[in-house]
Amino acid sequence: MTIIAIDGPAASGKGTLARRLAKHFNYAYLDTGALYRAVGLEVKRAGGNAENEQDALNAARKLATLNMNDPEIKSESTGGLASKVAAIPAVRDLLLDFQHRFAEKPPGGKIGALLDGRDIGTVVCPGADIKLFITASVETRAKRRFLEQFGPKGSDGEYQSILNDMRQRDERDINRAASPLKAAENAHLLDTTNSDIEAVFEQALQLISDRLTTA
Ligand code: DC
Repeated sequence: MTIIAIDGPAASGKGTLARRLAKHFNYAYLDTGALYRAVGLEVKRAGGNAENEQDALNAARKLATLNMNDPEIKSESTGGLASKVAAIPAVRDLLLDFQHRFAEKPPGGKIGALLDGRDIGTVVCPGADIKLFITASVETRAKRRFLEQFGPKGSDGEYQSILNDMRQRDERDINRAASPLKAAENAHLLDTTNSDIEAVFEQALQLISDRLTTA
């Protein structure tokens, strides 16, 4: 069983990279951000407050029934709600169980698991065979999210609003006490600010293949 851990801030490119790598190696893939997003969205729909522990826990307990493919799940505002529920330790504990089970016994009988998030290499799978930490400048990341959401016709105001939200989200994810966003000591750092996804994919592939042949 091989476990690959990929961490990094919002819109760093880690999701696209993770999906491609999982497909390449035929490993099971878990987007752990989607779990926090689904919980954040459920709190909103239930009329609750994402910073309230009880409201967030009520939503987290419904995890198995939540729709990870909801069209609203990807929006930057859902990302903000996710980041709020993610700062609550009891919510993280509930979601940790789910992530551990996935990594220990990947669905579909796959021989490997690839998880991406903020604390995979540090907390969820500290013993992962390989750890990658993907970064990019906040302006680049905001631009990516802006283009994804508004396309080339979006306004400067919409870009500025995404940039502000992303800065706040980084701040919350990095500075929270419970499992903050941080590169594991033995993680390989890949900066995607000036590289396209193809180049980063090739780099990651090389690192993983080297590790697998020496294991
Ligand atoms: O990766 P993402 O943008 O979909 O994540 C949404 C939020 O969920 C992120 O701002 C913080 C939280 N998160 C977390 O705390 N731990 C993870 N392993 C994954 C996401």
